[in-house]
Amino acid sequence: MSDKPKHQLFATRLGVIAATVGSAVGLGNIWRFPYEAGVHGGGAFLVIYVFFIVLLGIPVLCAEFALGRSTHCNVLGCFRHLKPGQPFWKIIGVIGVTSGMMILSFYSVIAGWTLEYFVVSLKGEVAGNSTEELHSLFGDFTAGLRPVMWTVVFLLINYCVIVRGVRKGVEKASNLLTPALMILLAVFCVNSLTMPGAADGLSFLFKPDFSQITPGVVIGAMGQAFFSLSLGLGCMLTYASYFPDRTPLVRSAAVTVGLDVLTAVMAGVLIFPVVFTYGFSPQEGPTLVFEVLPAIFAQVSGGWFWAPLFFFMLFLASLTSTISMSEIGIAWLTQDRGMSRGKACVLVIAVAMVCGVACALSFGYWSGLSLPVIGEFNIFNFFDYTSSNVLLPLGGMLISIFAGWMLDRNILRRELTTPRTALSSLAPAIVFLLRYVSPVMILVIFIANL
Ligand code: TRP
Repeated sequence: MSDKPKHQLFATRLGVIAATVGSAVGLGNIWRFPYEAGVHGGGAFLVIYVFFIVLLGIPVLCAEFALGRSTHCNVLGCFRHLKPGQPFWKIIGVIGVTSGMMILSFYSVIAGWTLEYFVVSLKGEVAGNSTEELHSLFGDFTAGLRPVMWTVVFLLINYCVIVRGVRKGVEKASNLLTPALMILLAVFCVNSLTMPGAADGLSFLFKPDFSQITPGVVIGAMGQAFFSLSLGLGCMLTYASYFPDRTPLVRSAAVTVGLDVLTAVMAGVLIFPVVFTYGFSPQEGPTLVFEVLPAIFAQVSGGWFWAPLFFFMLFLASLTSTISMSEIGIAWLTQDRGMSRGKACVLVIAVAMVCGVACALSFGYWSGLSLPVIGEFNIFNFFDYTSSNVLLPLGGMLISIFAGWMLDRNILRRELTTPRTALSSLAPAIVFLLRYVSPVMILVIFIANL
C-alpha cells in the first residue's frame, strides 16, 4: 500500500483523531470565530463559514491526508517523492515550513495572553473591576514586557511536549488535552444556556443577517475556514504522515471537520448569551474574549472560578494547535536534514521565540515600527496577514491543484477508499471538488483579496 514510514506513527485510533482535532480546534475557533461572527452579522457569517468548510475544507483536508499518508513524508519530502523531476512543487513545502513558523510565532503571543489572564483571574484581579479598568488592564498588559515573558513560557511548555516525540509527546498530550478541552467547552455552554440572555444570544448566532455581508466578509470566512482546519501549510499533511494504513481518511476528515464546526458553534453558544445577558455589544472585535468576557466574569456569581477555568481552556486549545504547527518544521528537519529530534525541536522553538518576541513587542515598544516593505503593518500584523491571508490560501490552492491534477488518480482514490468505510463512496465527489471547484474558488477569492 503506501510507502514504508521511516519514523514513528500514531499508535491508536484515538491518537489520530485527538491529534487532528486538537490541531484544528484552537484560538481560531474559540477566540477568532466568535469575534468575527460578532462583527459580521452573527448567523450570516456562520452560514458562509460552513459553506466554505464543506466545499473547500473537506476536499483540501482529504487531499492533505492522502498526500501525507501515501508518502509518510514531511511537506517538502512528500512532493519531491511524488514528482521527483519537478522541483516546482517544492514550493508548497517551502510555503508550509515558512508560514508554519510565522503562525507559530504570532499564535504563541496570544496563547501567552491566555496564560497571563489565567494567572490574573486566579489571583482574583479580574473580579470586581469595572469595564474601564479591564480595558486599561488589557492595554497596559499588552504594551508592557509581560507578554514577552508569557510568549517564552508558552513556547517552553510547547517544547516540553514535542521533544518527547510523536507517540509519547504529540499523541499522548493530544489524548489528554483534546478531550479535556471539549468537556470544558461543553460545561461552559450549558452554563451560558441557563442565563437570561440565552435566547437573544442564540438568535444572534443562528439567525443570519445577510445585510452585514460584504465581499471582504466572504474572504474573511474563507480564510477562517482554512485557518480553523489548519489547512494550506501541510500541517495536516504532516500529521497524516503519522497515520497508520488502517486509518480511514474520509471518515477521519469528516470527524475533524464536524468537531471543528461544532466547537466554533459552541464557542458562540458560550459567548453570545453572556454578552447579551450583561448588555455588551457582540461587535467588540479581537478583544471580545480578553476584555468583554473578563468584564462579565467580574459580575457573575462564581466568576472567580469560571474566569481562570475559561482561560485555562483557551490555553489547552492553543497548545494542541501549536504542537501541530511545530511538527511541520520538525518533520522536515529530522527527515530531510538528518537532524536529531531533540536538536530540531530546539531549533524550531528558538526561531519561534525570536519571531514571537518581536510579535509580542508589536503592541508596545515596537508598535511604531513598520518596515517600509510592508507598509503600515507592525510585525505582529505582518506575520498574521501574510501567513493567514496570502500564504495559506496560496498553499491551499497549490495543494488542491496538485492533488486534483498532478497526483496519480489511483493513488488518490486508493488512499481515500482504503480501508473501506461507508464514507469511502464520497471519494469521487471529493476528487471532483478538488479538480474543478476548490482551486477555482480559492483563486477567485484570492485575486479579489489582493
Ligand atoms: N487550526 C488552529 C486554530 O483554529 C490553528 C492552526 C494549527 C493552524 N495548525 C495550523 C492554522 C496550520 C494554519 C495552519 O486555532
